[in-house]
Amino acid sequence: MAIYKAAISAVGGYVPETKLTNFDLEKMVDTNNEWIISRTGIKERRILKEPGKASSFMAVNAAKEALKKNGTDPLDIEVVICATVTPDMRFPDTANTIAKELGATNAWGFDLGAACSGFLFGLTTGCRFIESGAYKKILVIGVDMMSSIIDYEDRSTCILFGDGAGCVLLERSEDDNGFVDADLHGDGNGAQYLNMRGGGSLLPTSAETVKNKDHYVFQDGRPVFKAAVSGMKTATNTILDRNNMTKEEIDWVVPHQANMRIINTLTDFLEIPKEKVMVNIDRYGNTTAATLPLCLWDYEKQLKKGDKLIFTAFGGGFTWGSIYLTWAYDSN
Ligand code: ACO
Repeated sequence: MAIYKAAISAVGGYVPETKLTNFDLEKMVDTNNEWIISRTGIKERRILKEPGKASSFMAVNAAKEALKKNGTDPLDIEVVICATVTPDMRFPDTANTIAKELGATNAWGFDLGAACSGFLFGLTTGCRFIESGAYKKILVIGVDMMSSIIDYEDRSTCILFGDGAGCVLLERSEDDNGFVDADLHGDGNGAQYLNMRGGGSLLPTSAETVKNKDHYVFQDGRPVFKAAVSGMKTATNTILDRNNMTKEEIDWVVPHQANMRIINTLTDFLEIPKEKVMVNIDRYGNTTAATLPLCLWDYEKQLKKGDKLIFTAFGGGFTWGSIYLTWAYDSN
């Protein structure tokens, strides 16, 4: 039972300056701009190239912007949730590094996996923490430096992913706006289609795992595509049904940016005008845990207090779900 209502009170984002275009990729693997655009909708993605910089660097930049926007002192942050599959190191958690770099020395935090659904799971967790009354100010970050786990000789994956970070500040809502409902799922049977086998306790890094390229993302695209479409549709339907909402009532859809064809299928299913669907896949590609907050970052100025937002994502695991919340402030 919620004691308080949780709401997003600020958004921040960061993408590296370096662009990797489809034309760059044409020179690296057997692919072409037309194929990539028609099959995925991606034109370019950002790559973090600065030596010594990793996921925490992007996350800290995104978090600093969110804190600055509404004048929050880092010392008031109580929890940092960092959704990522590309932490700086296996341990300590990147959330700890982020808190240190921000000067959020009163915060505890943790990393959360769930691949492309990481931000969805993190946002739900953060909102539930606020609702319980245990915490008042939480940073939820989605960050991935996918370039660190991508094989740039594998055309089936290297064209898809990019680097970036997005962050939201969660606080107790001042009115009735904020987090309403989440429908989240997982199915371990999906592991065979989308994974990174090497470097865990099952297959610790060795000369053999490196030779076999087990330290890179593996994806069997077609089954993932089918499961993504059906998972995101079903979860969104559940959210609409459970909240007695019609499709017409949705002001914004915030979909995971994995493939423009998946986003279009979802748009058609929801019978929603394209202008109401947040899209930035053309510029950033799939930034895994960062896609949803980066969408908010890009569209923030268009959001109005009371707007009804549906978030939906699908990722490795398999993991998927949808969230319904109402926007808590006039962003412009
Ligand atoms: N350039 C040119 N041709 C290519 C490329 C490329 N980059 N990649 C594959 N092809 C070829 C294939 O070899 C194949 O050729 P063939 O017919 O001669 O065998 C053909 O194009 C079609 O390949 P498919 O893999 O069937 O292409 P598809 O239309 O399925 O698109 C894609 C591939 C983009 C990966 C798609 O399946 C997809 O988006 N899947 C879902 C991704 C997703 O949602 N992931 C979840 C989140 S990611 C995460 O959690 C980390």
